[in-house]
Amino acid sequence: MKGLLSLLSLFLLLTSASLTSGYELKNVTFKTKDVGTVVFSHKDHLQQKTIKNNCKACHKEGTNKLGSHTMADMEKGRSCGACHNGNKAFALANCEKCHLTKQVSLKSKEIGPITFSHKSHLSRQRCEGCHAAIFKAGPNSPVGMAAMEKGKSCGACHDKQKAFGLEKCSACHPTKDVTYKIAGAAPVKFSHDFHLGMYKCQDCHGVMFGKPGKRSKAKMADMEKGKSCGACHDDKQAFSVKGSCAKCHRVL
Ligand code: HEC
Ligand code: HEC
Ligand code: HEC
Ligand code: HEC
Ligand code: HEC
Ligand code: HEC
Ligand code: HEC
Ligand code: HEC
Ligand code: HEC
Repeated sequence: MKGLLSLLSLFLLLTSASLTSGYELKNVTFKTKDVGTVVFSHKDHLQQKTIKNNCKACHKEGTNKLGSHTMADMEKGRSCGACHNGNKAFALANCEKCHLTKQVSLKSKEIGPITFSHKSHLSRQRCEGCHAAIFKAGPNSPVGMAAMEKGKSCGACHDKQKAFGLEKCSACHPTKDVTYKIAGAAPVKFSHDFHLGMYKCQDCHGVMFGKPGKRSKAKMADMEKGKSCGACHDDKQAFSVKGSCAKCHRVL
């Protein structure tokens, strides 16, 4: 069966001039260990003015395999590098044009979603800046903030020098408003944005509130004793839970 197939493709190669009309050549997918997949499109290439359906622009007579190549081979003009040299076609330095990336969604069990964009990093970094030196191209096990402070993971660059520092929690850990719907009282909207102007995540989470994602359940009576919002809304640090009801309970 295999022999028959390669015989068939050999035949196709030799009769290439007439084949493009009736025969659709497949995309070829290359898989790499560290930098994802590369899809080569015959269709896109055969349409190029400089190639014009000429199979021999890439294939030696009678073969359809180009063999396995490293980027180093390509830099020397082999395989894709025969044209992708910044002259006949875009240069090899444009990694992301061949090695496609998608939006990865990172999240931490404890603290929810994390903002990371391949796209915005690729305007300054190349794949090898992160893969595989810092990250595997696949799910990495979490290392935690303490390890990041020592230069692991995102902390390899987010050290205040190469990029903004780790103290800017909300640049990576996005937050949203939290709404408490309360039976028998107007709802309360808690604004992360407002409070983050004065506090850090760890001033609240793990102190008067639990891990993000777990809703607390507090009664006003508890708050008056310094629990939940009442830890700060005590008339000293902020307006008191004993009055100013409408500052928190608002018809939204
Ligand atoms: C711009 C370069 C280029 C041109 C032009 C080109 N090919 Fe290819 N072709 C490739 C590459 C790259 C591969 C994958 C080689 C490998 O796996 O080593 C390939 C693979 C193939 C295969 C094997 C596909 C498979 O699925 O195993 C066939 C058959 C083939 N080409 C036929 C043709 C024919 C017929 C033409 C002319 C109409 C043509 N090619 C023109 C680059 C080209
Ligand atoms: C015979 C010359 C030639 C070879 C060999 C070649 N390319 Fe290209 N490629 C071109 C030209 C010409 C273009 C269009 C001009 C440009 O985008 O710079 C192109 C465009 C592309 C594009 C963009 C296509 C699009 O969707 O617009 C990709 C991706 C690409 N090549 C990948 C590859 C890969 C991967 C290989 C090796 C497996 C390869 N090429 C080998 C000539 C070549
Ligand atoms: C013109 C398309 C193209 C461009 C541009 C390109 N690559 Fe590749 N790259 C490939 C293809 C195709 C393979 C798989 C080759 C094979 O298996 O024969 C590959 C393989 C690799 C590999 C695994 C093999 C090796 O060399 O170790 C790495 C790593 C890699 N690319 C990194 C990069 C980086 C980093 C850049 C940018 C500096 C880049 N590539 C730009 C097409 C491209
Ligand atoms: C600034 C660092 C950084 C750069 C630069 C970078 N990546 Fe990534 N990449 C990541 C992180 C972080 C992940 C997510 C890892 C995880 O899920 O634990 C990732 C995941 C991936 C994945 C696996 C997810 C998927 O889409 O299947 C692939 C493939 C990948 N990157 C390819 C690339 C390629 C190709 C380039 C260059 C064009 C690149 N990356 C550049 C940081 C980077
Ligand atoms: C540059 C991006 C970035 C910044 C800035 C950042 N983090 Fe993180 N954080 C992450 C990523 C990514 C993870 C999950 C992956 C991991 O642990 O490797 C994480 C995980 C965590 C976790 C759960 C794991 C653990 O260490 O307990 C907590 C809690 C956390 N961050 C708090 C913070 C706080 C508080 C700040 C500000 C002082 C902060 N982060 C700043 C990226 C960042
Ligand atoms: C190889 C270095 C490098 C690594 C590793 C890295 N970054 Fe960045 N990152 C940068 C640079 C450089 C900037 C832009 C400069 C700045 O904003 O300080 C940036 C900007 C950002 C931004 C702001 C732009 C945007 O995309 O919205 C976020 C958020 C971010 N990084 C998150 C992360 C997270 C999360 C990780 C770890 C999963 C990470 N980065 C790993 C270098 C890196
Ligand atoms: C002033 C106190 C305070 C600070 C500072 C704070 N949070 Fe929160 N956060 C809360 C409260 C209150 C809730 C609601 C959950 C509850 O009632 O325990 C919450 C909920 C969350 C949730 C879950 C959202 C939801 O819809 O339930 C996430 C995720 C979160 N916080 C992340 C963060 C991160 C990341 C930071 C730092 C950048 C941060 N928080 C800083 C008080 C705070
Ligand atoms: C770590 C201390 C702290 C905690 C905990 C805290 N707050 Fe605040 N809050 C403040 C401070 C400080 C101000 C600003 C001073 C003032 O207005 O008296 C403020 C202001 C406010 C405001 C007025 C500004 C705005 O966003 O409109 C509201 C409403 C509010 N907090 C609601 C809450 C709710 C609801 C909770 C509990 C879920 C809470 N806060 C927990 C410290 C805290
Ligand atoms: C700092 C913001 C804040 C102030 C000020 C505040 N509340 Fe609340 N209140 C809340 C939040 C948040 C909840 C829901 C807490 C939860 O579910 O964990 C709540 C819950 C309640 C509840 C339902 C739970 C219970 O205790 O029965 C009532 C009723 C209530 N508030 C009445 C009031 C009245 C009356 C005042 C004024 C004397 C007041 N609140 C002042 C934030 C506030």
